[in-house]
Amino acid sequence: MSAIKIAENIYAVGVKDPGLAVFDIVMATKYGTTYNSYLIKGTEKTALIDGVKKEFTDEFLSNIEEIIPVDKIDYLIVNHDEPDHSGAIPAILEKNPQIKLFCSASAVPFLKNIINREADITGFKDKATLELGGKTLEFKLMPYMHWPDTMMEYLHEDKILFSNDGFATHFCSDCLYADEVKEDIDHEFFYYFDSIMRPFTAYIRRDMPKLDEYDIRMIAPSHGPIHRQDTAKYLDRYKNWSVDKSEGKNQITIFYASNYGNTKKMAEFFGTQLEKAGYNITLIDAGKLNIDNAREQIETSKAVMIGTPTFNGDAVAPIWNLVNLFSTVYSVGKKAVVFGSYGWSGEGVKLVAARLTGLKLKVFEENFRARLIPSAEEIKEMENYTKKVVDFIG
Ligand code: FEO
Repeated sequence: MSAIKIAENIYAVGVKDPGLAVFDIVMATKYGTTYNSYLIKGTEKTALIDGVKKEFTDEFLSNIEEIIPVDKIDYLIVNHDEPDHSGAIPAILEKNPQIKLFCSASAVPFLKNIINREADITGFKDKATLELGGKTLEFKLMPYMHWPDTMMEYLHEDKILFSNDGFATHFCSDCLYADEVKEDIDHEFFYYFDSIMRPFTAYIRRDMPKLDEYDIRMIAPSHGPIHRQDTAKYLDRYKNWSVDKSEGKNQITIFYASNYGNTKKMAEFFGTQLEKAGYNITLIDAGKLNIDNAREQIETSKAVMIGTPTFNGDAVAPIWNLVNLFSTVYSVGKKAVVFGSYGWSGEGVKLVAARLTGLKLKVFEENFRARLIPSAEEIKEMENYTKKVVDFIG
């Protein structure tokens, strides 16, 4: 890929990676991806926005040098330190040790650990500006789109939002712009959000209004095609996809796994009791888990209950498969209650509670365990326990 002009004195200088099969270990990328970078020439200063993955450094430098020698660039703006964007930065510094690096304040330590050398680094606060001469960049801190360091910038004169991972797509083709793509780019745009951004929806919901004040005519992300038509559509999608799905639903989902039916009976008992207390209850057998549905249920529930038996000193595999889903959606602070039937020593419940705590859910400190088939006495205890759960969930 060569340097391509996208507006007056603004060039796309990134690279293509059509062979990428998996991104960040977890996301299949059947269309590969691109690592986008943008060069902006003002009348006084020149800025480069973002680098590319290390393996593509030579091609990247060559693209830049079609426009300007690397050692003539004044500023390098680092929107996000993940190595798919920062891998080539040491090579830029090698050629241009005097270049000034700009990033968010929280990115400074990351950046130092990536370049591992002395450099002129400035950490920006929200709304800081940088004047290039007829090109004015305003910086927007957008933490967790996709890392805590992430920022974007709005170029006032050209009305372009350089959005880094935000509004990106893992999609590599000959098309520079989304409106030229023949494939189902909307699906890929959602798939990217679902895989990369969904664990951070609370932050996205909080920060999207920061962009409302700008007249955004073009969105130039760090992966995939540029959006130059109907930019509001892409902004609105992020707003819609990051709403708080649990609001107003009073929903509790009770996930359980059960071999001999005892943990299932406990789940049903708790479900009935909590329904009487006014909650909307959904029971889901983790042994028949539909991943998409389970993720949706976690998001739409104000609290979850997880029932696991203990086999061989551990919780059972379907429950661990379920627990693995909590980090794929925003679940920090979600209230959780753990219970289960057991035969010998009942470690499963404690292990699940500890893991959920590690994932930053708010776990009810008192778990409930019943030995084998819950007795009449244990059922009475479960009634009392339900009252405590109601107090905890609120
Ligand atoms: Fe494209 Fe979070 O890196």
